[in-house]
Amino acid sequence: MTAKVITVFNQKGGCAKTMTSMQLSGTLGLWGLKVYVVDMDPQNTAALWALQAQQDSEFPATVHSYAPLKAAFLNKVETLMDKFDVIIIDCPPAIESPVPWTSLLIADLALIPVVPVMDNVWASKVAEDLVIKAREERAANGVGGELKAAYLLSMVRKGKVFDVCLDALKQGIHLPILSARIGMRNAFPESQLFGCVVSAFGKSTASGEVESAAREILKLLDIKLPKKQGTK
Ligand SMILES: Nc1ncnc2c1ncn2[C@@H]1O[C@H](COP(=O)(O)OP(=O)(O)OP(=O)(O)O)[C@@H](O)[C@H]1O
Ligand SMILES: [Mg+2]
Repeated sequence: MTAKVITVFNQKGGCAKTMTSMQLSGTLGLWGLKVYVVDMDPQNTAALWALQAQQDSEFPATVHSYAPLKAAFLNKVETLMDKFDVIIIDCPPAIESPVPWTSLLIADLALIPVVPVMDNVWASKVAEDLVIKAREERAANGVGGELKAAYLLSMVRKGKVFDVCLDALKQGIHLPILSARIGMRNAFPESQLFGCVVSAFGKSTASGEVESAAREILKLLDIKLPKKQGTK
């Protein structure tokens, strides 16, 4: 097995990178894939999240912090490649960090969570430029294969201001936006509190949103689920 690598990044702080990493990893884990989350944020939010899980219900993906290694975390990722189906790198928000750039050089998918508000719209250009530069670097060196990229709309709320911001985002970007959207819902921080994913509370709008995003990502990366596991 050679893992598909998804880097979840956006230099903008608080745009749901860790939420995306954890919901996606846990959901794919529950669907039978072996998933590893590389927590590269010195805040250790992903690692702490998984530690919140109760003993009888472990978080359904392996989560480990490699933040102290900085760019050298890539050596660790290489040792995981043949042991997992999917590796998700949860990047820090710091614009000066080498981690997003380094992880884009090996990723199969750059997943960029973005909240439809203007500060996120402005910051999206920086994220997008990094993806384009990484593609150029990979092509110049003839390594790394194709780097796919997509935005994931997160913490979406209803209202005219969000519609206007979403229009502004769509006008300024060149990367696709996933059709699935993650709404602003209490179930998300609740799942952090209990160290689980939203589907652990039963079927809900939140779990449906996460599963739709997960299905789209599986399709984008041509990842098949193990037999007898299903997403309906
Ligand atoms: N869909 C959502 N609905 C409600 N709250 C959310 C949602 N997504 C994220 N949050 C909350 O918003 C905050 C920021 O989310 P998160 O930590 O995932 O962002 P981040 O991009 O990883 O932040 P940082 O840049 O600090 O790493 C957290 O408190 C999280 O619980
Ligand atoms: Mg985070």
